[in-house]
Amino acid sequence: MARAENFTCTACGAAHSKWSGRCDACGEWNSIVEEKPLSAGPARKSLGARRGALVELSDLSTEEQPPPRTACGISELDRVLGGGLVPASAILLGGDPGIGKSTLLLQATASFARAGLKAVYVSGEESRAQIRMRAQRLGLADAPVSLAAETNLRNILTMLEAEKPDLVVIDSIQTMWADNVESAPGSVSQVRAAAHELTAFAKRHGLSVVLVGHVTKEGQIAGPRVIEHMVDTVLYFEGERGHHFRILRAVKNRFGPADEIGVFEMTGKGLAEVLNPSALFLSERDEPAPGSVVFAGIEGTRPVLVEFQALVAPTPQSQPRRSVVGWDGARLSMILAVLEARCAIPFSGLDVYLNVAGGLKVREPAADLAVAAALLSAREDVALPADTVVFGEISLSGALRSVAQTANRLKEARKLGFSKAIAPANSKMSSGDGNGVRQMPDLTSFVGEIFGAG
Ligand code: TYD
Ligand code: MG
Repeated sequence: MARAENFTCTACGAAHSKWSGRCDACGEWNSIVEEKPLSAGPARKSLGARRGALVELSDLSTEEQPPPRTACGISELDRVLGGGLVPASAILLGGDPGIGKSTLLLQATASFARAGLKAVYVSGEESRAQIRMRAQRLGLADAPVSLAAETNLRNILTMLEAEKPDLVVIDSIQTMWADNVESAPGSVSQVRAAAHELTAFAKRHGLSVVLVGHVTKEGQIAGPRVIEHMVDTVLYFEGERGHHFRILRAVKNRFGPADEIGVFEMTGKGLAEVLNPSALFLSERDEPAPGSVVFAGIEGTRPVLVEFQALVAPTPQSQPRRSVVGWDGARLSMILAVLEARCAIPFSGLDVYLNVAGGLKVREPAADLAVAAALLSAREDVALPADTVVFGEISLSGALRSVAQTANRLKEARKLGFSKAIAPANSKMSSGDGNGVRQMPDLTSFVGEIFGAG
């Protein structure tokens, strides 16, 4: 007989046959709860035995109005939301402690309030005096925002029911405490229960809710992943420590394109919008140098130029270092393997450091060719021709694959003074785009033509 698996991890959803203190599937502590199976007890009748309410059906062609939206005027934020805030939507904003989540949301709440929404900002981390001081520093003291410092969820829901705001910010979900759940604030069951109560309340009362979630060292929102499923939109606020650029990224959005980014700069007076991120990411670039390559990328709906920097140095270690910031480490290994296997250019005995300047995390495979170019440029100690951008996906065979939105990439490059490009053969271009674009069928011809090796 199959063993009943009545215990479920609330963090990852794994089923277990018995309770234990730690889920061996995801490593979370105190996340396993017992769930009674549906068929428990002989007295339970099947659901079909009694009639339920009629469920309304419609066909696929029924016209739905697009949701009404409120723009707050911070265009980098409005765009990431898909064109503004949708009523009765639930948004989760994740990010490292100290990255600027509270600053962003205080500025956003003030802007939404000025745009006519009734807005409440609830902090479980700071006192009202602290928030007021920050608001004064940011020049927001006159915005019609109501502040609360509270962690008791029951009290917060009672307040929301009385006040009936259009928007509430909960900073942070890890500090909230539901008194009907027997565990400490910040625990998986508390975070899950609080997020569930708040999102359900928001849907019921037509209120938009923004939940702040701290991120663990592993880069996930602390607590259960299930809260990402409960909300309509998941935003991450990213940035490198020591850098002043901040990137707001939509990783999930039921009301707009995912992967859209907004770029901000942390200043003494809060977050300032960066309307031309390419210029910002390239502003610290020196003269063309070996190992530096400009990638013409697409983030969401917007073209963005960024600089990839590589350093390749001999090492006596038998296991050379592979260090990556802003790009996928596994993808780097793949490109090194393709260079070795298809172009006979080995990187054994060489430490490799790869960095995306400015703190942007690039996820597009279209950056493959820029990464390969940076690695080769560093290894051969040859700078790429000036005014050149690079893009293209590399396949395991060493062939170059064309990528989406070639025309947009080239347009942005030209706008910033880059008149030349290296792209895969068969890239779809509009007429007149071909000037200055060198199209390469594979990595071997790229290596031969640009670096005179192969
Ligand atoms: P904060 O919004 O409190 O971060 P989080 O809520 O994500 O933990 O931001 C804290 C950092 O931002 C802090 O190191 C100070 C800096 N900061 C500025 O540089 N300028 C400002 O105007 C403000 C308000 C904060
Ligand atoms: Mg904060």
